[in-house]
Amino acid sequence: MTRIAVLGSTNMDLVAYVTTAPRSGETVTGHEFRTAPGGKGANQAVAAARAGADVAMIGAVGTDDFGDQLRTALEHAGVDIDLLRTTEGPSGTAHIVVDGDGGNAIVVIPGANGSLTSLCHADRALIAEAQSLLLQLELPMSAVLAGAETARRNGVRTILTPAPAPAQPLPCELLAVTDLLVPNEHEAATLTGVSGDPERAARALLADVPEVVITLGARGCLYASRAQPEPVAVLAPPVTAVDTTGAGDTFVGTLAVALGEGRPMTDALTWASAAAALSVQRPGAATSMPYRAEIDA
Ligand code: RIB
Repeated sequence: MTRIAVLGSTNMDLVAYVTTAPRSGETVTGHEFRTAPGGKGANQAVAAARAGADVAMIGAVGTDDFGDQLRTALEHAGVDIDLLRTTEGPSGTAHIVVDGDGGNAIVVIPGANGSLTSLCHADRALIAEAQSLLLQLELPMSAVLAGAETARRNGVRTILTPAPAPAQPLPCELLAVTDLLVPNEHEAATLTGVSGDPERAARALLADVPEVVITLGARGCLYASRAQPEPVAVLAPPVTAVDTTGAGDTFVGTLAVALGEGRPMTDALTWASAAAALSVQRPGAATSMPYRAEIDA
């Protein structure tokens, strides 16, 4: 079984469903409110576990009720949470507005995620034993960097989702130990300064990392590598989205499983796109993620 380590965030998602998202200064009435476990790290962990991997999560929750709920949700998904800390104070929360087209806007308050600034010996040992390490940018950069460097030293594939889009350029030290970068179109534009041209953005990112996948939502994704710099497009199955929250995390978690199983990149991308297409047809982030049999079907 593919062994995947995730070093990342856990958040409680507080989701308001509306027809049209409010603009600045506007108040709108929504039609539904839900709380659901999320966080880019926890979402990727759940996606990978449901796709059939042996998954362990390094992260932190708070001492509030949300912390207990987030811990329980990961446990129920079969994720090993021995290295999920509980730190004094609130858990991370994500304040999400989902509009009538399934699109979303998110504000994250890091809470306990912000306390994870360094790794302990057990974290490093867990990373060293994995096939892949999944990283995002909802933990302090010092921890992300320590995780990626540990993975590189031990020959573990590093897969970085540069989300939320960084306000500063990503540290060179992090890019130097990233094997596969998976930004969405917006994040790729932020990282490269190239907007509206994902092919060019993908080629530009190859200056920093050996392989890149840019996710394009309903349009699928683009893959490029230093060995094959001309981007290859993989289409997404056409579906009607009700909630796109966590679709990118579903994609990455599933992709990591397929790559860990030794599948060729285009097969892995097709499988991950199917998983993401399934997830957008259901509400919530981690709650919407498909199981392996559904993805295969
Ligand atoms: O990628 C989706 C996730 O982003 C949500 O679950 C939310 O918690 C934020 O981290």
